[in-house]
Amino acid sequence: MQSRKKFEGFFAPAQNICYAEPEPVGKAENMEIRDRIDAEIYKTGAALIDSDFFQSSKNQIHHGRTTLYDHVIDVARVAVRLCNECSLRQKKVDRRSVILAALCHDLGMIGRDEKYANNSEACRIHPIESARLAKEYFPDISETALSAIRKHMWPLVPTMPTTREEWLVIRADKKASIDDYVPGCFIKAFYKKG
Ligand SMILES: [Fe+2]
Ligand SMILES: [Fe+2]
Repeated sequence: MQSRKKFEGFFAPAQNICYAEPEPVGKAENMEIRDRIDAEIYKTGAALIDSDFFQSSKNQIHHGRTTLYDHVIDVARVAVRLCNECSLRQKKVDRRSVILAALCHDLGMIGRDEKYANNSEACRIHPIESARLAKEYFPDISETALSAIRKHMWPLVPTMPTTREEWLVIRADKKASIDDYVPGCFIKAFYKKG
């Protein structure tokens, strides 16, 4: 298993803008929060994160300008922040299920060019394949997490999310995906307006 220090090096530089948790003033405080989030993600998902299979996603371009690995880690980070927001509001949330679902939601996309005939097949089938792979890495994964993985493409996948955990994973994936496609400077400029 990799040390915590080594794991940190695998993450992309901080560039998420996430309003789920109030942004602290100083950079040092920011990094402290990021460290706590990363530590929780690693503690929960080390069995997958350390695997060669997951590490191979560093070489796969995703959403045009990022890698599948960085996308997934971003989704997990946003998901943890959303869990924190729930806790602040006294809303119960199954954090382990949310983190595992975030880490596993796109496992079915690893090696997509060899697996699927085209984009539409990849979009349709990868949630089911991701859930199957999630069970391989985490045999005790909850049905809550598996269901969040299967529904994460909603509304493209027409099954409506029903649990808080499903909604959190969908929100985290959508936010990270928008950040993947749109350069951060445009997003920052938008938020500065007004
Ligand atoms: Fe996906
Ligand atoms: Fe995704």
